[in-house]
Amino acid sequence: MVVRLVFLRGISYNKLYFQHGYRVWRIFVENFIEQIDKRRTFAIISHPDAGKTTLTEKLLLYGGAIQQAGIVKGKKGARAAVSDWMEIEKQRGISVTSSVLQFRYNGYCVNILDTPGHQDFSEDTYRTLMAADSAVMVIDAAKGVENQTKKLFKVCTMRGIPIFTFINKMDRDAQNPFDLLEEIEQVLGIETYPMNWPIGSGKEFKGVYDRNKKEILAFQHSGKVGQQQAEKIEAQLGDPGLDELLTKPLHDTLSEDIELLDGAAYEFNLDKVRHGMLTPVFFGSALTNFGVEPFLADFLRLSPPPLPRDSSAGPIDPRREDFSAFVFKIQANMNKAHRDRIAFIRICSGKFERGMDVFHVQGGKKVKLAQGTQLMASEREIVEEAYAGDIIGVFDPGIFSIGDTLTTAKTPFAFAGIPTFAPEHFSRVSQVDTMKRKQFVKGMEQIAQEGAIQIFKELGGGMEEVIVGVVGVLQFEVLEYRLKNEYNVDIRMQNLPYSFIRWIENEDCDPKALNLTSDTRRVEDFKGRKLLLFTNAWSITWAEEHNKELRLSEVGR
Ligand code: G4P
Repeated sequence: MVVRLVFLRGISYNKLYFQHGYRVWRIFVENFIEQIDKRRTFAIISHPDAGKTTLTEKLLLYGGAIQQAGIVKGKKGARAAVSDWMEIEKQRGISVTSSVLQFRYNGYCVNILDTPGHQDFSEDTYRTLMAADSAVMVIDAAKGVENQTKKLFKVCTMRGIPIFTFINKMDRDAQNPFDLLEEIEQVLGIETYPMNWPIGSGKEFKGVYDRNKKEILAFQHSGKVGQQQAEKIEAQLGDPGLDELLTKPLHDTLSEDIELLDGAAYEFNLDKVRHGMLTPVFFGSALTNFGVEPFLADFLRLSPPPLPRDSSAGPIDPRREDFSAFVFKIQANMNKAHRDRIAFIRICSGKFERGMDVFHVQGGKKVKLAQGTQLMASEREIVEEAYAGDIIGVFDPGIFSIGDTLTTAKTPFAFAGIPTFAPEHFSRVSQVDTMKRKQFVKGMEQIAQEGAIQIFKELGGGMEEVIVGVVGVLQFEVLEYRLKNEYNVDIRMQNLPYSFIRWIENEDCDPKALNLTSDTRRVEDFKGRKLLLFTNAWSITWAEEHNKELRLSEVGR
């Protein structure tokens, strides 16, 4: 108990203690802490088609959150989609927005932040990672590290969050596992530790060897895709009995590989895992449900509970009694039946209770969080209470912006802002009908406030000409669609040749005085930050070489 009390310093439960006595206080506090410590909030990242949706589905099956596989993404008509909120998503059969899924497993409360898996992903994907405490990276065993994974991985390393790797599709022909590890290490710059090791692949796939338990998880080519448990066989490598199960050549290769790994590979180090410097690697096959449950068990054991978050008052302990959260995503009109805006918040400390009053730090006002919703399938579920680590959607009457802080702390503080990530595609946008100027400006500003697009203007200019920047080109379509459907405005778009943007970090810099190539453009964003638009990487180097003091950044802070 002494330990617990020391642990709880700084949390004030005085009222509870004086009104109900020590026993009630203790039960309450222990339950509160357990609720938070049992939470695991992570994002799944991958290049399209690596198997992120399939793995998510299988994880949800274990948690009993869904009854059958196939409801997470509706590629084909019959499947209902979890996150097909917008018509455009339905038409395309892809998920444009990220969804949040929660399930319980083995005493843990697991929050999965799903990120769009298609090519045209948006800044939303990046921001989702800001709300996660760890990430699961799914890699296609035949393709290795692909482009999108690299981009998302960069954001994970920027935050230093733990990354767990699931090398998927081992039931198909795969690259050599050593080559895959080397690629992860080289391309992503992170150490690897294989938790299990594959025995063959494709038609020859026999299963995996669990390095810790020293047992073989045997794969059965039953042809049935599904939920069956794999057979576990205790294995003494070198035992001739294994030749029959694995075939002699595969048994020999396995023994040699394990010897090599035990001798030469990185050692397991939880501290490095927790700081995103070493990734535990699991081989499996999500589609056949092979290796998913052991992965989940190890992941829950090794991944961190909600972590303290930096704020203007220093790091905020998730176990603090005061409620605090930040907005990481705003979604408008997800459901035509409710024409409203939902702000997704990540709870960073304390407990959410429906109807609670909180202070909106950036707005300088008290607001009532009347509605808390969690999203599963296309239905919204009303949440009565939620704890640090959880993600909920709250009704937004149009006052919240990305990065805003909500708290009940007596001395309010603000969480460190969410960086703005560099868009890669740019267009000049104007309204077709000049009479609709007001709606156009309102629509553009609201959609930008939600973070779906970024808008830029000439230095010191107004909204006469707006440059829109997006991370994925699909966002242009989303913009056009939403302006027409929600604001009744038709727009004209003209692609601009820029593909790089950099924020100028020097506070005192006058962009007009900079020596730049003639095709570089000077603009500002709506927070008044100065930026440069470049058509190629060479011009960036040129700008840096010809303006010695200039400090450029890929993220706006
Ligand atoms: P994503 O979310 O990362 O984009 O990938 P998704 O899960 O949709 O998987 C992409 C394709 O890969 C799907 O096939 C899926 O069935 C298949 N897949 C996923 N995991 C495995 C695996 O472990 N082994 C094998 N052999 N295939 C796997 P599809 O034909 O494109 O779609 P669908 O008809 O199955 O939905």
